[in-house]
Amino acid sequence: MATAPAKLILCGEHAVVYGRPAIALPLADVRATATVTANYSTNEPIINAPDLGGRWSIAERPDDPLSGLVKTVIERFGISPQIEITIRSAIPIASGMGSGAAIATAIVRELLALSGQTLPPAVIAGLVYESERGYHGTPSGIDNTVVAFEQPIWFQRRSNLPPLIEPVAINVPLTFVVGDTGIRSPTRLPVGAVRERWQADPVRYEALFDQVAALVVAAREALATGDVPALGHLLNTNHELLREIGVSSTELDQLTAAACAAGALGAKLAGGGWGGVMIALTTPDRATDIATALRAAGATNTLVTTIAPAAAFFPDR
Ligand code: MEV
Repeated sequence: MATAPAKLILCGEHAVVYGRPAIALPLADVRATATVTANYSTNEPIINAPDLGGRWSIAERPDDPLSGLVKTVIERFGISPQIEITIRSAIPIASGMGSGAAIATAIVRELLALSGQTLPPAVIAGLVYESERGYHGTPSGIDNTVVAFEQPIWFQRRSNLPPLIEPVAINVPLTFVVGDTGIRSPTRLPVGAVRERWQADPVRYEALFDQVAALVVAAREALATGDVPALGHLLNTNHELLREIGVSSTELDQLTAAACAAGALGAKLAGGGWGGVMIALTTPDRATDIATALRAAGATNTLVTTIAPAAAFFPDR
């Protein structure tokens, strides 16, 4: 069995699609798993995904992004097609937590293990990127990258070059409360809406993206120095900018306000927006109260997670 983590965008979502930097964090304790077993009754791999509501052979659903990914990997690595891949995931779908990237990464890791191969995270991220394109149109590549590296990352697209991917140093443990609106929002919808608005008014949106980029730079500095209150302010600023970009919602605004009223250092929507999750940065002693306040304000689920301090290097590449 192979696994892959969920992710949270700390700051910079949406602007990252337009070449600005963003910082993403892996969520080690919320994971997707893939298990491969032999199945000699089939000549096409079968994907069995009870949590996603289906069991299909890749020939039956050739346009499904996971079918395409499995086909690519088994062909490239000479893996027998007489297999069944069972997927399980604790990550809510369409919630901003990278469920699609985590499932795809778990599948690639399991298929590679089966064929006795190892690949660097950047190569795994590249394979998964192709299937992510099927999920949400014009992804930046940040989700598949943070999931494959399983480390806090700085991510920036560049024209005519591979994306800039750097490790992010974190000086102190960070406690977050994640609140789920319970509203499923496929990322491609807000991403597509932002694209239309940007096309209609590029000057305004480029200026908003520049403001996001400036706070992402400041957030990296706050992480490196361990200035958690400063990071909290930056998250609030990011939420305001995401509202202006047009990807927040009444529910996300209510949850972020409730978290701040309950003592969070800062809060923002995380991921594509319009639904899905928000995150609140807190001192550990306030986490339970903030989770209670989020549920009272309508969160269907809450989760407290701690991001461990991290060094600014990639150990495995
Ligand atoms: C989704 O996790 C982050 C977005 O910026 C989309 C993307 O980067 O592909 C909203």
